[in-house]
Amino acid sequence: MRQRSWWNGAVIYHVYPRSFLDTNGDGVGDLSGISRRIPYLSSLGVDALWLSPFFSSPMEDFGYDIRDHTAVDPLFGKAADFDELIDTAHGHGLRVLIDYVPNHTAAEHPWFQESRKGPGSHRRDWYTWREPAPGGGPPNNWITLFGESAWTREPESGQYYLHSFLPSMPDLNWRNPDVRNAMFDVARFWLDRGVDGFRVDCAPLLAKDPELRDNPPAAAGTLAHHRPMGDYDSQQHLNDQGHPDIHGIYRDFRTLLDSYGDTPGERISLGEIHEYDWSAWSRYFGRDLDEIHLPLNFGLLQTPWRPGAVRELVQAVLRALPHAAVPTWVMGSHDDPRVAARVGAAQAPNAMMLLLTLPGTAVLYNGDELGLPNADIAPADIRDPWGLRNPGLSRDPARSPMPWHDGPNAGFTTPGTRPWLPLTLPPGGTAAAQEVDPRSLLSLTRALLSLRRNHPALGTGTVEFLDGPTEVLAYTRSAPPETAFASGSDSNSGSEPLLITLNLTDRAIPIDRVLGDRRWARHLTTAPAASTSASSPVLRPDEGAIWKPQFPGRRQEGSATSARSQC
Ligand code: GLC
Ligand code: CA
Repeated sequence: MRQRSWWNGAVIYHVYPRSFLDTNGDGVGDLSGISRRIPYLSSLGVDALWLSPFFSSPMEDFGYDIRDHTAVDPLFGKAADFDELIDTAHGHGLRVLIDYVPNHTAAEHPWFQESRKGPGSHRRDWYTWREPAPGGGPPNNWITLFGESAWTREPESGQYYLHSFLPSMPDLNWRNPDVRNAMFDVARFWLDRGVDGFRVDCAPLLAKDPELRDNPPAAAGTLAHHRPMGDYDSQQHLNDQGHPDIHGIYRDFRTLLDSYGDTPGERISLGEIHEYDWSAWSRYFGRDLDEIHLPLNFGLLQTPWRPGAVRELVQAVLRALPHAAVPTWVMGSHDDPRVAARVGAAQAPNAMMLLLTLPGTAVLYNGDELGLPNADIAPADIRDPWGLRNPGLSRDPARSPMPWHDGPNAGFTTPGTRPWLPLTLPPGGTAAAQEVDPRSLLSLTRALLSLRRNHPALGTGTVEFLDGPTEVLAYTRSAPPETAFASGSDSNSGSEPLLITLNLTDRAIPIDRVLGDRRWARHLTTAPAASTSASSPVLRPDEGAIWKPQFPGRRQEGSATSARSQC
């Protein structure tokens, strides 16, 4: 049997460090806070962490504007705190991935400080500088994600520099080999420090049209599966990202990653790729699966919470997937509204069940295991630069601090300190409260992760959708061929298929058609207190259930993966 890579079918827990746990009472989460919660993450059952940036930064984009790529910002701690985090995580069997932000730096970065000195600077070409357009004004029509011109003019030279985000976040010029070498050295620095890989920020942006041609206006229908982004949506972003030269960059990056560890494939890359044309998205794996290990797929964030739409999405992604590539699923992030807000609190458990039962690698955003809602942020408290420009696009509601336990500031920071963003509580209460409630979303998440670990059909197996009532998303998961029936087809071997049924409505729905002639019994359910038998062919309102086949002559399984499964 071929050994499968650790990241194939892994669950990666995304930590937003500012909002995780504050240990020094300044209202902002820090690296020591993450170390302190490693036992929580390890007992939850995830495989790896991905940390959003904690590097030296003026924090105009909360760390995605980097001033020094190899220094820990004092707000988050010291270099030694990072070493301790890595050691603690590895000691608990958790891998650690960190954010790698290659498209831009902070304007305060010494590279840009040198570059902006003028056309004679030896680092001028590390960024993109251009003369104004012939009639004056910016060199082309590119706009930032905030909807403003992507060019800012420096009065001294009269030239413009390019920035895909804030003017204080100039874009690096990856066509300059010195930039590539310097940024690869940054990756080496962290690999040498022990990280297991990177989440590559804005992965498609590194290769832009070398002639800097205008973007065409957006055509009708080009925004399918895309959250409205204001003025940014007025263009098709054809020339400001994703030029075919991107593939050479990621092939080289893969070679660098593969040069670490005993065997290639130990250190990995996840790519932030907001591409909803799945064949374009799948190119980031590389023709020979020699580029980004796990191009992130944000489809679930953009898809209406309806069985037909979700099924169509999953099938489209899997159809576009290159042979032997591992799909990824993202249900929440620090850039998007909270899943509980998108699907509703009653459906949040179903969203978790879906995320953790789809084939491939899942990314779980911190707080989603507690069902954190979007935080209510008063206009005066908005911190996000997008939110300050366009309150409707603010990402702050998804970035509120983790509520750990009862008491002042829910244990996120010291009593009397104002957290950097207002706290909010999920309907199920704090982590501590959910820990002891077998019916909480946290307990469900733990049960799902435990089932996933013990069941080869989940994570890496195949998926088959079943027809049935339109309110229900139903699919079976079967073990990959090399593990199926490996130990003699016993139902306890974990190799039997599983049936997942998610009722996406608040009405009871009969599912006889889905269950068919086979005898199935619920193994895990999101439904409250038992009122029907494990084999009842009716899904209760909002119920999500995982079923196991019942074998004739076997005693009905009494024990289940969690207390939730007593039906
Ligand atoms: C990515 C990050 C986002 C950040 C942007 C600029 O999209 O996820 O938070 O603002 O890149 O670096
Ligand atoms: Ca702190």
